[in-house]
Amino acid sequence: MSKQEVILCENLEESLGHALEKCPHDKLFILTDEHTDRLCLPALKEVPQLKNAIEIRIGAEDIHKTLDTLASVWMALSEKGATRHSLLINLGGGMVTDLGGFAAATFKRGLAYINIPTTLLAMVDASVGGKTGINFNGLKNEIGAFAPANSVLIETEFLRSLDAHNFISGYAEMLKHGLISDKAHWVELLAFDTENIDYAYLKELVGRSVQVKEDIVEQDPFEHGIRKALNLGHTAGHAFESLALAQNRPVLHGYAVAWGVVCELYLSHIKVGFPKDKMRQTIQFIKENYGTFTFDCKQYEQLYAFMQHDKKNTSDTINFTLLREIGDICINQTADKDTIFEMLDFYRECMGC
Ligand code: GLY
Repeated sequence: MSKQEVILCENLEESLGHALEKCPHDKLFILTDEHTDRLCLPALKEVPQLKNAIEIRIGAEDIHKTLDTLASVWMALSEKGATRHSLLINLGGGMVTDLGGFAAATFKRGLAYINIPTTLLAMVDASVGGKTGINFNGLKNEIGAFAPANSVLIETEFLRSLDAHNFISGYAEMLKHGLISDKAHWVELLAFDTENIDYAYLKELVGRSVQVKEDIVEQDPFEHGIRKALNLGHTAGHAFESLALAQNRPVLHGYAVAWGVVCELYLSHIKVGFPKDKMRQTIQFIKENYGTFTFDCKQYEQLYAFMQHDKKNTSDTINFTLLREIGDICINQTADKDTIFEMLDFYRECMGC
């Protein structure tokens, strides 16, 4: 997979101008959703190359990450004469960058695209690393492809208008990057004041967080090995996310990941010796910032079934990424059903539900 250029922008319009010059194209398309069309597109109004860009707008949020929406993007590209030499800019959160990336990867067998993520989750995770796709048959990101953007342009000024829930949701992926990288980064993330945000400092933290992801993706773009480190918190997290959806009380992805981290640090502690004090400090931060996802032991079987259906797993084996220490990653760890139920007991006990 080709390496993508990731830029932490000082001036988004200038960075986009440069990115467009590096990527010759016959037609330019820009994909927005109903929010980014209004809130973010105006930030690009001075870019001369965008004057003739054709806008394609889709509905916002995960409910629109569907085959129908994808088909509507393919249709717009087709009707407006996109060729294999056209270029698509995806301006939005993870839903827009994932779906737009997949539309670009598949239309006429692939055209170039640029991601401009507008949410914290998309900046530190979704828009970087080339995973694209849509939800299908009730399963998240079930259809997709690895297809890196030519450039990812990160403008943290967009975060000033992000609501608190989406901010803290994205922050969970940053916390995960701290846990899988090094102690100093983990310490600064736990100390960050998430209620009175210092945006200049946040930009530095976002830069470090993206670097963690880029380093890992560069080593293992197709997730055969070390990229699985990025799945910390996600095996249990996806099960919480699916249960929440099934119970009609959907939660933002990052919240589920944070609660999944609680579970998987416990497994890390009992299976590979992750230090108890660091587990407790991380859990305290998660409790304070994410609250608790409540369930009782009657839901254990259902949560276990969701873990079995996770696309990271094969047949009966449930796979986890665990940590021996901050930054000391153990991929391909498995746990049996009794241990998983014990993990859920621990979660309920320490999170108070
Ligand atoms: N979101 C995890 C990954 O990109 O591998």
